[in-house]
Amino acid sequence: MTMAALKTQNVAQLSYQGKTVDLPVYFGTDGPGVLDLQGLYSATGLFSFDPGYTSTASCRSEITYVDGDKGILLYRGYPIQQLAEQSDFMEVAYLLLYGNLPTSAQKDEFVQSINKHTLVHEQVSAFYRGFRRDAHPMAIMVGVVGALSSFYHDSLDIQDPEQRQIAALRLIAKMPTLAGMAYKYSIGQPFVYPQNHLSYSENLLNMMFSTPTAPYVVNPVWSKAIDRILILHADHEQNASTSTIRLAGSSGANPFACIAAGIAALWGPAHGGANEAVLRMLDEIGHVDRIPEFIQRAKDKNDPFRLMGFGHRVYKSYDPRAFVLRQTCHEIMGELGVKNNPALQLAMELERIALADEYFIEKKLYPNVDFYSGIIFKAMGIPVSMFTVLFAIARTVGWISQWKEMIADPMQKIGRPRQLYVGKAYRDYVPMEKRLEENQ
Ligand code: SDX
Repeated sequence: MTMAALKTQNVAQLSYQGKTVDLPVYFGTDGPGVLDLQGLYSATGLFSFDPGYTSTASCRSEITYVDGDKGILLYRGYPIQQLAEQSDFMEVAYLLLYGNLPTSAQKDEFVQSINKHTLVHEQVSAFYRGFRRDAHPMAIMVGVVGALSSFYHDSLDIQDPEQRQIAALRLIAKMPTLAGMAYKYSIGQPFVYPQNHLSYSENLLNMMFSTPTAPYVVNPVWSKAIDRILILHADHEQNASTSTIRLAGSSGANPFACIAAGIAALWGPAHGGANEAVLRMLDEIGHVDRIPEFIQRAKDKNDPFRLMGFGHRVYKSYDPRAFVLRQTCHEIMGELGVKNNPALQLAMELERIALADEYFIEKKLYPNVDFYSGIIFKAMGIPVSMFTVLFAIARTVGWISQWKEMIADPMQKIGRPRQLYVGKAYRDYVPMEKRLEENQ
């Protein structure tokens, strides 16, 4: 079902150089309205200017809603806290993809359709052998996910809804398999095939931790925690990696190439790479006595250090996902009998001190989704370099849902921002013999 045309009675007026321009204002279901600037350039000869898109809505969407001031996150209208508590990742994947919670029969059919695609072509394993054993798993994931487009020529035509559907199922199904292979390759162990009698999260853990030499039973505490973490990371409006997917997809690029681009964008420490950076930061801090030193560094304009896992472009209150993860941390440590987990203790003390500090209060810097997730992963023995890979597995559901929505939206066209040019004015070519240093 495609979205209807936007209609409005509201108009904002812009006066510039004696001209007044009417700009339509649209309001959605919730959240800020938008000023439609599509006619701005033709009416005024001016571009809008918004580096980092701090005040720009790039699209309309029915998938996820975030209220950063109230700390609200809804997937298709359902609050993240209720989904994390009562749902599971496959059900949330169905919700994000199709818009409603599935019936029991719909969920069973969806899970079976995912299970049909968990294997990757046997030749994909050859790509791994081209990487050094110490390659970062995100480097591997960017490569092998992009390479999938060379195997599935029957799901590259993005104008064909059937092919879009198969590509979506393939990507969601294969991400854990590729991730498990990346981890096994890094430790020199044989790849483990997916086992479709296992749940999505159990399969991921089995492909990472089982070996041919001994029976492996997935710890139910771990698989439930992983499932909840995948739910929390599944989608988040038009964040950097999702915007990358939409921009790549707007050119007509195939879905595998788009998801590879999203993985690359997610890797950055300011975005999904922050969970890895949080653990490295906690390791560097080492002891509660050194927290004030790092808080001071985070506040020092001349020091590039930032408190990783803190702050957010949209949340100016506690990230609701961080709140759920904080609770999950305590549950896991309790069930694993590691109540006094040093990383958790250090993180809790760091959070307590930061939240009481004037700088963090004034700039509304709170823990975000990345602050606690890594502590849980580390307690399970998942290496730090795999943290963002797990984020990418979860976000593939959101990415592909947003990608499908964009293609079906009649308003969307190829993304092509303009710029404010501040370079050299027109000048003629200078032959070599006439070039002087100072003239350049
Ligand atoms: C994710 O967009 C999403 O939805 C992302 C995400 C998702 O689910 O997709 O939620 C996932 O990426 C979470 C964010 C993970 N990143 C980190 O934890 C890295 C640390 N955080 C910062 O780099 C920063 O807070 C960002 C990148 C998250 C947000 O940056 P903004 O919105 O561009 O804010 P800013 O850099 O303009 O900061 C505003 C002020 C600045 O001070 P002034 O220049 O105004 O004096 O706050 C300061 C910043 O210096 N600041 C921090 C800080 N974050 C912001 N100071 C110290 N430590 C920090 N972490």
